[in-house]
Amino acid sequence: MPVPESEYLSNVWKDDIFKDRVVFVTGGAGTICSMQTRALVRLGANACIIGRSVDKTEAAAKDIGTVRPGAKVIGIGGCDVRNPESLKAAADRCAKELGGIDFVIAGAAGNFVVPLEAMSPNAFKSVIDIDVLGTFNTIKATMPHLLRSSTPRIIYVSATFHYTGMPLQAHVAAAKAAIDSLSASVALEYGPRGVTSNVVAPGGIEGTEGLARLGSGRPEEQKLYAAGIPSGRMGTVRDIADATVFLFSDAGTYINGQVIPVDGAAWRRQGDI
Ligand code: HXC
Repeated sequence: MPVPESEYLSNVWKDDIFKDRVVFVTGGAGTICSMQTRALVRLGANACIIGRSVDKTEAAAKDIGTVRPGAKVIGIGGCDVRNPESLKAAADRCAKELGGIDFVIAGAAGNFVVPLEAMSPNAFKSVIDIDVLGTFNTIKATMPHLLRSSTPRIIYVSATFHYTGMPLQAHVAAAKAAIDSLSASVALEYGPRGVTSNVVAPGGIEGTEGLARLGSGRPEEQKLYAAGIPSGRMGTVRDIADATVFLFSDAGTYINGQVIPVDGAAWRRQGDI
């Protein structure tokens, strides 16, 4: 069944604001990134989404492509962000088939809940490699194309729990802190060449794999958690997609080197809720 537009996009945006723009998305078949992509494509962009699973990535690309007649959405499966060669090949293919890369969403991530004492060095390394090295590889693979664009923009999908530290997630908290820092360095180094580099930091977003992995999944637990969020509700994929549209639009040109939590102020009460 088609995803209703109101689930991934507010009705405040104009059609075609991203006409002729191309977005390259890692982790593009995941719940959050696929909705970010869907919103951009609905507003005129073409897209290339990257993922490890061939079936999941190709199916997501096909589905996203239905939101606008004439949309071009390529799905490149079998691409691990830990492998710089496969990422470079994907970015080059995207640029060749879609005419360039204007926007990048670095969304590929790995996570699991485990106490530090049970976390092997390889478990820690796996998450650092996917999140940090994978983000670095994404920047390296896409930057030559971004530098040829008139609107080069990068968004990293991070998190908020490293602001305080997070038990059972030492690996991903360390990784997200590194990504925030990497984004700031990119903003400083490439800002003079027109690139904007910003982090979007989702709070708990309902219906995501991340949330399912973290909580018990019991409705009463989620209800209690949501009630403690200052904005009084869980986040939605639309909240993240709208923030993405804003940052990539002409309205976001002067926002650079920032970390933007989209979490209903939840992180300010982290630990209490
Ligand atoms: C303890 C674990 C573990 C677990 C894996 N490992 N899962 N240790 N508890 N639950 C250990 C393994 O034993 C191994 O260490 C090492 O981690 C690597 O495991 P592999 O399975 O070989 O790695 P790989 O196939 O590369 O898979 C990577 C992964 C996996 C991160 C472990 O979970 C994955 O592919 N995740 C991608 C999808 C995902 O995580 N989505 C959630 C993103 S949400 P040893 O020592 O045995 O070799 C997100 C947002 C966070 O990131 C914010 C939420 C609010």
